[in-house]
Amino acid sequence: MEICQLSERFFSAIPLQFNNRLRKSARTPKFLVCSNRVSCFQTGNSGHDSRNRMFILGMGFVGQFFAQELLNDGWVVSGTCTSMKKRNELEQRGFNVILFDANQPEMNTMNSLKSCTHLLVSIPPVMGIGDPMLQHGELLRSTLMDSNLQWLCYLSSTSVYGDCGGACVDEDYPASPTNEMAKLRLAAEQGWLKVAQNVGIKAHVFRLGGIYGPGRSAVDTIIKQEPLSESQKWRVSKQFTSRVHVADISQALKASIHIQLSRRIYNIVDDDPASRKEVFSYALDLVEKRWPSLTKEITSHERDEPFGQKASLRGEKQVSNALMKKELALQLLYPSYKSGLQSIIDQMANPF
Ligand SMILES: NC(=O)c1ccc[n+]([C@@H]2O[C@H](COP(=O)([O-])OP(=O)(O)OC[C@H]3O[C@@H](n4cnc5c(N)ncnc54)[C@H](OP(=O)(O)O)[C@@H]3O)[C@@H](O)[C@H]2O)c1
Repeated sequence: MEICQLSERFFSAIPLQFNNRLRKSARTPKFLVCSNRVSCFQTGNSGHDSRNRMFILGMGFVGQFFAQELLNDGWVVSGTCTSMKKRNELEQRGFNVILFDANQPEMNTMNSLKSCTHLLVSIPPVMGIGDPMLQHGELLRSTLMDSNLQWLCYLSSTSVYGDCGGACVDEDYPASPTNEMAKLRLAAEQGWLKVAQNVGIKAHVFRLGGIYGPGRSAVDTIIKQEPLSESQKWRVSKQFTSRVHVADISQALKASIHIQLSRRIYNIVDDDPASRKEVFSYALDLVEKRWPSLTKEITSHERDEPFGQKASLRGEKQVSNALMKKELALQLLYPSYKSGLQSIIDQMANPF
């Protein structure tokens, strides 16, 4: 699935204005990100901040986790969310956050984006619209053309493969999305890769399995006694659901920044696709073991939960992560939901 490499051959094959942009060092920014705010201004040659700067469109679950890790590594990180309440919460945790509605992108935000060296796109498509940023193609293209950006990653989903009759699915398996959202995902993947190609920056697409991690897992659902979400209900009858721990997404993102390859699509999943029933049963055992006297009522109720009939294999797939391991040289921190859930419960304070 390799499309091109950032080699000399690549540089000489692209138009000169893009070529120069690509060669421009991302470590010579025109803008300075200062203090705890995203303030962008030209600095000339002196006193500029030469650190890598990540911009995260959509500071959701993955965005926040990744942002924290990058901050710990010394990056300058800024990102967006859609509500004032969330912005205040995130700012209290030390993040630079801009209120942003991708349906109506504001120039200030787009200008902030220009100063960044790396861009993570974590905003999902909108039903009936598609990718909300790609609606504003010309604004996006002109912003990125005039930026310090050198890397972009679009977070997608394994749902783009559609119904696979139980097949083992790698990145060469033809994507054939069946529902509307998955069709919009596939279009968004192609749209972002095209934008990146047009402006001459390195880009990747990550097709993520079901994301879990601290604060969002089967253990958390049991403890909070949350009702199942619509997508969880839909997955109840599936035999194989691919998952990935947010810490592994984060390390895959970091690895993709350092590779030379560009325009690659990677399945980002763990080694152990399993049914929801199996995962919940394991999570219940962990919760009971950790808080035996306090959880009987909760867990007996959860064990009674109807998990539905086994579905036919028509809509099933086992997603391969071989390419991720080979090209990103990734050693999963949590190769199975078992080690992932264990680490989540080990880090939990008593929630009762
Ligand atoms: N959850 C899964 O299991 C799963 C599996 C595969 C792929 N994915 C996809 O992978 C990506 C990352 O997942 P995640 O779980 O971290 O997602 P998430 O927690 O839902 O975060 C999505 C982010 O996008 C922002 N957003 C949504 N609509 C927007 C709009 N119109 N304008 C501006 N911002 C908007 C949200 O803003 P607010 O912060 O204000 O809400 C949020 O910050 C998402 O695209 C998700 O759909 C998820």
